[in-house]
Amino acid sequence: MELLITEEEVQRRVSSLARKISRDFAGREVLLVGILKGAFIFMADLARKMTTPVKVDFVRLASYGRGTHSSGKVKITKDLETSLRGKDVLLVEDVVDTGFTLNYLFHRLQARRPRSLKTVSLLDKPGGRKIDFQADYIGFTIENHFVVGYGLDYNEAYRNLRGIYVVK
Ligand code: IMP
Ligand code: MG
Repeated sequence: MELLITEEEVQRRVSSLARKISRDFAGREVLLVGILKGAFIFMADLARKMTTPVKVDFVRLASYGRGTHSSGKVKITKDLETSLRGKDVLLVEDVVDTGFTLNYLFHRLQARRPRSLKTVSLLDKPGGRKIDFQADYIGFTIENHFVVGYGLDYNEAYRNLRGIYVVK
């Protein structure tokens, strides 16, 4: 594995995202919705660096169908426990690759009538995109590598690495 983004760079960028998001949501309470499992570390740091009041909830998704990852078929396997109606909601993702996951979830959650619905992704891989989807806030734009660390896994391993690494 090769180090792509150091722990210090990640922390600096998450701080700056938290500042920007806190400014944009000033005076409002934000419901952070983390997409399990990959977003759990990013969301924990983001939540602690934000200065607006936050609440948290989580969803878990699974891909299904033939050729799973590229098929674009996604379903919710663990739903939210909070109603979104009238809330300011920020969907928190680890990485946008094909775009299927966030695109699907965005439309599913929009139907629940939040007051606002925005998306933040720690990483963006525009080179992998199969459907047009752009997160509102992005930590780092990277090449189409497979990466691990800071919540991201390879067969469930490496989520606890503090930096972000390219798997060779
Ligand atoms: P998308 O639906 O293709 O945008 O994929 C998003 C999901 O695929 C993420 O939530 C990750 O779980 C997984 N994923 C995509 N790229 C990577 C990667 O480089 N490392 C680890 N997981 C990834
Ligand atoms: Mg994920």
